[in-house]
Amino acid sequence: MKKNKFILDVCCGSRMFWFQKEQPNTIFQDIREYDKGFIDNRPNRELHPDMIGDFREMDFPDKIFKLIVFDPPHLIGKPDGCRMTKTYGVLNKETWQDDIKRGFNECWRVLDDYGVLIFKWNDTSVKRKKLLETLGRTPLFGHPNGSKIPTHWFCFMKIPEDKLNIVKE
Ligand SMILES: C[S@@+](CC[C@H](N)C(=O)[O-])C[C@H]1O[C@@H](n2cnc3c(N)ncnc32)[C@H](O)[C@@H]1O
Repeated sequence: MKKNKFILDVCCGSRMFWFQKEQPNTIFQDIREYDKGFIDNRPNRELHPDMIGDFREMDFPDKIFKLIVFDPPHLIGKPDGCRMTKTYGVLNKETWQDDIKRGFNECWRVLDDYGVLIFKWNDTSVKRKKLLETLGRTPLFGHPNGSKIPTHWFCFMKIPEDKLNIVKE
């Protein structure tokens, strides 16, 4: 593991939501790689992760990141190769639940105790409730009552099991 890399972007895409696109403490991973010009109406957009990797089976030891951001594809059933799927990737209709759950479990594995996981979702194809059922874990905060905006940000913390039941003294 490279020194001082304690943040992981699990599937960075074109790093559109990053203020610092070369943030020095972050490993930017994605399963794809494209040169400039891969989106026809965004000539400067490119997709160059630091490393090619699959969020369903990550090549990292346990508990090495303090902060993880997971923004997986959210579209199901869109044709592969259209502008949207080129930009955001696409979920497999048959396996998406297993893929997302495996990705989430992998994030949990490589996250340190007390580490924070930020999960981003857009509920165009799959509603927020179904997504949270699939993850099987309750976020600390985000959009508990839904939102008219389709994009959701959820914050999880890996609190050790023995700290979850606080007994009053
Ligand atoms: C919603 S986009 C991420 C956008 C990114 N957050 C940004 O700011 O530009 C989802 C990304 O997940 C990647 N992806 C899809 N399946 C993956 C997998 N199994 N492992 C790693 N990355 C994957 C896609 O290539 C795509 O770039």
